[in-house]
Amino acid sequence: MWYKTKATEILGIDYPIMQGPFGGSLSSVELVATVSNAGGMGGYGAYTLTPQEIIEVNSRIKTATGKPYNLNLWVSDSDVQDGTVTDEQFEKAVKTFKPYFDQAGVALPLKPAPFKSRFENQLQVILDIRPKVFSFVFGIPSADVLEQCLRLGIKTIGAATTLNEALALEAAGVDMIIASGFEAGGHRPSFLAPAEQSTTGTFVLLQLIKEKVKTPVIAAGGIANGRGIAAALTLGADAVQVGTAFLACDESGALPVHRRMLFSDAAKYTTLSRAFTGRLGRGITSRLAKDIEGKEKQFLPFPLQTTFMSSLRKAALDQQKWDMIHFWSGQIAPILKHTKASVLMQSLVDETSKIIKS
Ligand SMILES: Cc1cc2nc3c(=O)[nH]c(=O)nc-3n(C[C@H](O)[C@H](O)[C@H](O)COP(=O)(O)O)c2cc1C
Repeated sequence: MWYKTKATEILGIDYPIMQGPFGGSLSSVELVATVSNAGGMGGYGAYTLTPQEIIEVNSRIKTATGKPYNLNLWVSDSDVQDGTVTDEQFEKAVKTFKPYFDQAGVALPLKPAPFKSRFENQLQVILDIRPKVFSFVFGIPSADVLEQCLRLGIKTIGAATTLNEALALEAAGVDMIIASGFEAGGHRPSFLAPAEQSTTGTFVLLQLIKEKVKTPVIAAGGIANGRGIAAALTLGADAVQVGTAFLACDESGALPVHRRMLFSDAAKYTTLSRAFTGRLGRGITSRLAKDIEGKEKQFLPFPLQTTFMSSLRKAALDQQKWDMIHFWSGQIAPILKHTKASVLMQSLVDETSKIIKS
């Protein structure tokens, strides 16, 4: 049967369909449990959570499902040298974004507090709570950590945006590799070359990786129905990871307006921008993203740009100034149909079964 793959065997799930984890409060326990209970694999993006919050989320997921699920972290969670920026850097950002703060009638923010990486502390929790699957983006954990995961029976999944990143992940010995195509919603998790130079589409990336790498591959980016799954499996994927289509479901942590936007005409156009967080990420095209393109040198490094933009985002949401908000979305949004995660899962399975008969 099409749904028995190396991935289903490794992960202990019924269907080779993963719900993409979403960082920044967009994941939800309900979504993870719904997908895992339906035989796929739910995923929780935990990179903004404190260790204690990860422990709590994990126990809530465990209560909601007895099936395997995936906890996800960012190996590199900061681009800030020494935790902060100079006054000069900060003034450049203020000057660049002042017109938007003025338009929203919001006071210009103060220089963000220094940022300290959270990854090491979060990682310790993962090793303590031992989820069935630990996936990560923006790099590769140390050999020692991967060895501990192996010993503890935690399956590891790393994400590649280029063939070189996939080769590095294979050399490190991860259990599976995500081929993350540039169609995908959210951040581009590149770690060897700048994200702007790592923009291969899912189906090319998948084929490049399959040609050179033996580790099972999960295709992610632009897959939202049975045809997409069948195409990915035909090209050699062992599983798919679906993000935007699950983000649009009622169970996700996305705001109602965000979910509405994903089903609106606006979702026909998406842009990769650094303006909202400091790292390159795909969202529905906004006036702000278009206006500010080319001024990336004036932005603050990740994640200070997120902090810097937070009061503007809040005001824009309150005032319904959607043209200043980056509603995360992949390019595939215009084909979305479902608002219930269980219905989406069932239709992904049924549609794929109709296309691949055995
Ligand atoms: C809002 C949003 C947040 C995301 N956050 C993460 C994350 O924290 N970690 C991660 O591994 N992938 C993250 N992703 C990527 C998804 O897990 C998935 O790989 C991707 O959305 C698949 O492409 P698609 O959106 O075209 O379906 C995010 C995607 C979106 C849309």
